Amino acid sequence: MEWGMANRLARTIKPDGKCFYLAVDHGYFQGPTHRLENPGQTAEPLLKYVDAVFMPRGSIRASLNPNIDTPIILRVSGGNSMVGEDLANEEVTNSIEDIIRINASAVGISVYVGSQYEHQTIMALSKLVNDCYDYSIPVMAVTAVGREEEKKSARYLALACRVCAEQGAAVVKTYYCEDFEKVVRGCPVPIVIAGGPKTENDLEVMQFVYDGIQQGAIGVNLGRNIWQNDSPEGMARALQAIIHENFTPKEAFGLYEEMKNNS
Ligand code: 5RP
Repeated sequence: MEWGMANRLARTIKPDGKCFYLAVDHGYFQGPTHRLENPGQTAEPLLKYVDAVFMPRGSIRASLNPNIDTPIILRVSGGNSMVGEDLANEEVTNSIEDIIRINASAVGISVYVGSQYEHQTIMALSKLVNDCYDYSIPVMAVTAVGREEEKKSARYLALACRVCAEQGAAVVKTYYCEDFEKVVRGCPVPIVIAGGPKTENDLEVMQFVYDGIQQGAIGVNLGRNIWQNDSPEGMARALQAIIHENFTPKEAFGLYEEMKNNS
């Protein structure tokens, strides 16, 4: 592997083979999401717990301190919105020059397998891989489902992950689901787990992250369940302990409560 690619991967996947990414990219299609009104302010206290931050260029340039050490995974797909016709209608939004300018350690793109825009988004991934690999920049493909929540089955996600891996994604981000091992087994590149809407119960998040890691995911790319929590730092520290320190969900919950009560 080219040195630059190995170096960027090593910055975003730690020596234990695991990773913890903070997702703060929601504004690119959702607008000013609750608690993400100022994305830099939301992200900065959490950066010490995570291995990379997933953000679009607008949030980075407008709100993130360029002195941070945390690697950037640049969200490079868009062109849709919550109030538009179809969430799947995405394309690549950044030129390769802009990706390099921002010093991205990796880029992330959504792919909508099985949607009306399947071909467009798979080809966008493919072209992005061609452009980024010329400069040793790894690509994370996101198996996006838009509003079609029912798609989150092992059968569908295994198919979507494999399609993304075959186009050259270095890492695939997908949802945790029943029979998640099947998704991992069918995907020749590492998988990170996406989150979803804020859960009622904090332990639930720790449990699905723990289960996903046990079943072969190398880490997570989580947003709302961290920064919409009443103790974002407590949740980030608890997830870091599960991902990198082999904490059980119960042990991590203890850590979370301690931090929440002391804040
Ligand atoms: C949005 C994304 C998010 O990065 C992903 O969904 C993770 O965030 P959350 O945990 O809030 O769902 O890709 O398109």
